[in-house]
Amino acid sequence: MGKDVIIACDFACTEETIRFLDKFNKIREGVVACDDISVRASRPYVKIGMELFYAEGPQIIRILKERGHKVFLDLKLHDIPNTVGKAMQVIGGYGVDMVNVHAAGSIQMMEAAKHGLMLGAIRFAEKPKLIAVTQLTSIDEETLKNELLIDKPLDEVVAQYALNAKKAGLDGVVCSAHEVVRIHELCGEDFITVTPGIRFEENAAGDQKRIMTPAAAKEVGSDYIVMGRPITASDKPVEVYRKSCEDFK
Ligand code: C5P
Repeated sequence: MGKDVIIACDFACTEETIRFLDKFNKIREGVVACDDISVRASRPYVKIGMELFYAEGPQIIRILKERGHKVFLDLKLHDIPNTVGKAMQVIGGYGVDMVNVHAAGSIQMMEAAKHGLMLGAIRFAEKPKLIAVTQLTSIDEETLKNELLIDKPLDEVVAQYALNAKKAGLDGVVCSAHEVVRIHELCGEDFITVTPGIRFEENAAGDQKRIMTPAAAKEVGSDYIVMGRPITASDKPVEVYRKSCEDFK
């Protein structure tokens, strides 16, 4: 199982992304001390979202893979099963390590996504992981009830969507670290939980509502933590990344 820190590279273009990632050469070159061999040897696992992908296209994936990074492509697909399946086949061909869909698209859509992704990734020995977004962290109980007309409590919806993802053969879900224990109880310890909303005590929460430290996320059993601004907006991103790895792994 992974147990890795994924850096959310929410940058506007390739140049800015590469300038940021070049700083991590310092760990490999020994300029920043790090006892963990796996951290020293590897390039950070990165998450590419819609902004960067739509600006730069698939070449951003190729560039990052050639540089030795693992890539989580966070495009959150949601459409009819046929369209998502076909799109996933294309994404599978990029050689990404992880990609996601909205669980709200239905079990049938998630099954089509998985099928398409595996077809696309047929030439890769290591198959990409497919995970589902249960509910966006920007959706609260009020929006769920008054706009989406879903009368169940948010945590029940999250639990049901996680079960749907498992039923469709997906590898896991993106969720709040606060939901990890319940999701592992429901879907099994092997079902991957990828948790954003990670902060150190000294960080500003920003727009994240339910936050947790890397050490606490490890404690509850998160499989991957996603960290953006605490690393990307720091004066010392390499040191913050190294500390996150040490606390989490
Ligand atoms: O900067 P920050 O650490 O808040 O970044 C978190 C990343 O995780 C962002 O790229 C955000 O889009 C993503 N994310 C999230 N909540 C979700 C799903 C994805 O914060 N439910």
